[in-house]
Amino acid sequence: MAFETIIVEIEDHVALIKLNRPDALNALNQTLTRELMQALEEADANDKVRCIVLTGSEKAFAAGADIKEMASMSFAEVNTANLFAALGDGIQQIRKPVIAAVSGYALGGGCELAMACDFIIASDTAKFGQPEINLGVIAGIGGSQRLTRAVGKAKSMDMNLTGRFMDAEEAERAGLVSRVVPAKKLMEEALGAAQKIAEKSLLTARTAKEAVNRSFESTLAEGLLFERRVFHSLFATEDQKEGMAAFIEKRQPQFRDK
Ligand code: CAA
Repeated sequence: MAFETIIVEIEDHVALIKLNRPDALNALNQTLTRELMQALEEADANDKVRCIVLTGSEKAFAAGADIKEMASMSFAEVNTANLFAALGDGIQQIRKPVIAAVSGYALGGGCELAMACDFIIASDTAKFGQPEINLGVIAGIGGSQRLTRAVGKAKSMDMNLTGRFMDAEEAERAGLVSRVVPAKKLMEEALGAAQKIAEKSLLTARTAKEAVNRSFESTLAEGLLFERRVFHSLFATEDQKEGMAAFIEKRQPQFRDK
């Protein structure tokens, strides 16, 4: 299906979702958030897709929620629409791995969208920030929560209170992004990582994602117990037998997601 604000391409088991509102630096308006959730859910349900890459343009991953759309909204309107709840909560329900490939600005809701993905690969031009305070509001899709978990209180407070931007080098140092690559190489690197994930057992990849995410929702003891139980449960899969047999027989595994 054709979308108005995003472009979706599926190739070699990877769904590439590109935010496409160049005139607004990919600001997240309600159409874009609705279309993005639809595309993510469709990719999650599509048997041909094994990994998802979310990206923007060279200049902006996304410059935040659409300020022009929000500016005149009242508390009642924002509250009734439950603004951004569908995106913030919905993206967590996507079970396939999602990589954010970030170039240029990832600000406000853009930074939050990238952080809601499973990991971020950044170009050396990337700039992350939660500048909502300059607009008289605060972050609304996880900028006070996911950023704090990613980079710790000091940097999160700094960014949420001063609104300053973090460049790619600082973001990598702080643990916000997993890799930084030259801008020209960003898509090659992100699609390469997605390809690597697509070669694994999807059953196992989903389980790994679930286990890592569990660490944000539980005590260490509960998380370790969860991990051990799902580790044990994977021995009920054909892919565990295949993966270990392939290692012993010195060949590539042929996973069947079973
Ligand atoms: N919403 C709506 N339009 C936006 C936008 C946004 N978040 N960010 C940029 N645009 C628009 C600009 O208004 C401009 O449109 P016009 O040409 O029609 O004037 C166009 O995109 C290009 O932007 P600039 O001319 O400003 O580009 P620049 O290179 O000079 O600056 C920038 C780039 C530093 C990213 C600057 O655009 C900027 O500061 N944007 C806003 C960033 C921001 O405050 N984000 C937080 C939004 S609130 C939020 O996200 C809440 C939440 O957590 C849910």
